[in-house]
Amino acid sequence: MKIENKEYRTIWFENNVVKIIDQTKLPHQFIIKDLKTVKDIINAIKVMEVRGAPLIGGTAAYGMALAVKENSHPDFIKKSSVSLIQSRPTAINLKWAVDRMMKKLLGINNDKILNIALKEAKEICDEDEKFCENIGLKGLKIIEEIYKKKKNTVNILTHCNAGWLATINWGTATSPIYHAHKKGIPLHVWVDETRPRNQGANLTSYELNEEKIPNTIIADNTGGILMQRGKVDMCIVGTDRTLSTGDVCNKIGTYLKALAAYDNNVPFYVALPSSTIDWDIKNFKDIPIEERNPMELSHIEGLDENNELKKVLIYPKKSKALNLAFDVTPAKYITGLITEKGICEASSEALKKMFR
Ligand code: MRU
Repeated sequence: MKIENKEYRTIWFENNVVKIIDQTKLPHQFIIKDLKTVKDIINAIKVMEVRGAPLIGGTAAYGMALAVKENSHPDFIKKSSVSLIQSRPTAINLKWAVDRMMKKLLGINNDKILNIALKEAKEICDEDEKFCENIGLKGLKIIEEIYKKKKNTVNILTHCNAGWLATINWGTATSPIYHAHKKGIPLHVWVDETRPRNQGANLTSYELNEEKIPNTIIADNTGGILMQRGKVDMCIVGTDRTLSTGDVCNKIGTYLKALAAYDNNVPFYVALPSSTIDWDIKNFKDIPIEERNPMELSHIEGLDENNELKKVLIYPKKSKALNLAFDVTPAKYITGLITEKGICEASSEALKKMFR
């Protein structure tokens, strides 16, 4: 998608290094960063220079390639794969991508190993781009239906950033929006700010602005009243881990939006590539929920009067804070899952039928 009218993907390999857009600096600074070692990759995932489940997966795949470049001894590759998987716990795409790389590299002990690793990492990224494009084409039909009935601007609410910055390109939740916009359907997006890291305000609104899609940032607690007032036609969110039961783990606050949508008969869709499905865990209470540094809550960063980035404390110095990064929305609150293969019910039968 575009930044200042130039097309980008979120990650690529060039001149022997992995290039990423540093998302900790957006929207105020656009910085392309070089990652040269598997350590750099692990750090970029941990501090969220790259984030969003599919992009974390793609980045980890390149991390495996950089590990091979550094030292192709099987012990080092194995150790790197474990450290990569541990870099963030909730998004299943991370483990999925590392396992896929390990499978590809297993038993290769000749000088072709680096090329094989780089090719597989690129394939993982290319596949994600294609899947996200398909999610958009499938999800477009839902927006078209709403527009056909309403004959007026379609208002969509989204949470966090499940946009192209969270994937390799297109996004998951935003892909149907981009496709509908390209088809000329009038749209307006309610963007949840998404405290504490403000992925909605900093990233979703930023990327929608770049694509010239009307949007309004709202505080995370505003969605409910907008739904009661009939100002939301549908919600679309992404996911970090979708259980085979149809329960969906996504950015903290998603669950409360789903409850409000359910109470107001607003359709609530979740968009995902199949790499986000966890076929093993059956009980949502077993999903590892990331707990991040409370400083993400107690401090806030923005531009000061000299246009310089500054971080300031906004809580009482003595207060404690709890920073859980994700929550789970039970399947019963989800209208449908928009996948690369089509739209299905959030249930084990429907998911099995579509993917197994
Ligand atoms: O903590 P983040 O910013 O990595 O969380 C991202 C989300 O929760 C997204 O909604 C999810 O990864 C889906 S991305 C297409």
